[in-house]
Amino acid sequence: MSRIVEEIFSDIADKYDIMGHIFSFGVDGIWRKIAANEAIIESSEYAVLDVATGTGSLVLDIAEKACKYNKSVCITGVDFNKDMLKIAKKKIDAKIDHKAKYSDIKINLKLDDAMKLEKSGSSYDVVTAGFLLRNVDDAIVFVQGLKKVLKSGGKFILLEMGKTDDKFLDFLYGAYFAVIRLTGSLINKKAYWWLTRSIMKFSREKMIDILKDNGFEDIKIKNLPFKIGFMITGKNA
Ligand SMILES: C[S@@+](CC[C@H](N)C(=O)[O-])C[C@H]1O[C@@H](n2cnc3c(N)ncnc32)[C@H](O)[C@@H]1O
Repeated sequence: MSRIVEEIFSDIADKYDIMGHIFSFGVDGIWRKIAANEAIIESSEYAVLDVATGTGSLVLDIAEKACKYNKSVCITGVDFNKDMLKIAKKKIDAKIDHKAKYSDIKINLKLDDAMKLEKSGSSYDVVTAGFLLRNVDDAIVFVQGLKKVLKSGGKFILLEMGKTDDKFLDFLYGAYFAVIRLTGSLINKKAYWWLTRSIMKFSREKMIDILKDNGFEDIKIKNLPFKIGFMITGKNA
């Protein structure tokens, strides 16, 4: 599956941001800002790992929030797709590089696989992942890696999309997804079929169980505006 997922994101890398904003009516941006806000912790100096950073939007939101709260933060963004990372680098260079305002923010981008997370270093205070869970080969392997890279007491924030607990809303989303598949097929049939199918298949409950089974604590799930997006947060024991 990972090869297929990698190909899909390479094919749509240059359109990923704009199509995400169009299909979500800009709500994806609000969800990332909420997640970035969660990534602000008490310490004045800390390290964040953003897994599956893609085109770097969440990294930039975290940088913006950290700057607002006068934090000194080192953010490492990893992804296994070099085409997505290329766009992330351009966006980060344009917004952050050499700007006095961001002098306490350091950003590194790395080509790494979420299935081998331990390679991305260890001792992170915060780990974030935006819309990764539906795409990984094995969520258990990801969570085991998360356990290794997150400090004891460190916080994780997982942003994802999946079915809601409201049957009527899910019916409406099902109808809207048919529209996305139709219009998305003009750009890339595989990508938008994958997007909509993986959302409808994702189980929040299963994910929570995996996190609990792997010893994470204080696990909370919060619906985000329009309910199809949600955020799972918790702490390493
Ligand atoms: C839906 S995009 C999300 C990107 C970004 N987090 C955001 O908020 O827009 C999913 C990203 O996950 C990456 N990805 C999927 N599986 C991965 C894996 N096993 N290791 C690293 N990155 C992965 C893809 O390359 C893609 O950039």
